[in-house]
Amino acid sequence: MTYVVTDNCIRCKYMDCVEVCPVDCFYEGTNMLVIHPDECIDCGVCEPECPAEAIKADTEPGLEQWVAFNTEYAEKWPNITIKRESPADAEEWDGVKNKLETQFSPEPGEGD
Ligand code: SF4
Ligand code: F3S
Repeated sequence: MTYVVTDNCIRCKYMDCVEVCPVDCFYEGTNMLVIHPDECIDCGVCEPECPAEAIKADTEPGLEQWVAFNTEYAEKWPNITIKRESPADAEEWDGVKNKLETQFSPEPGEGD
């Protein structure tokens, strides 16, 4: 199994998760992060740290799409291990529906 980042991270991007991961397996896009499923050791410590509740265990039903998504973008985006400032309007995006369809950017983030 693995943990994955799901759509509510988009434009929230709080980055509390990167500080607690013991194996540094988060990767950064311009407006969200993903977890590399092959690197995640399933420790679970990041899940409760996300204020947007965007991190899920892949044992929850219906997450196959997100495992594939995290795998794809972890290969394309740079590694991030240091929390920076989250977007100024992050709270306004928490819980907004259909962010994958309307707000996702495939562009890589800055990384560390
Ligand atoms: Fe990192 Fe553990 Fe979260 Fe996996 S579950 S991304 S290893 S903190
Ligand atoms: Fe995203 Fe939550 Fe991390 S919003 S950047 S998964 S703390």
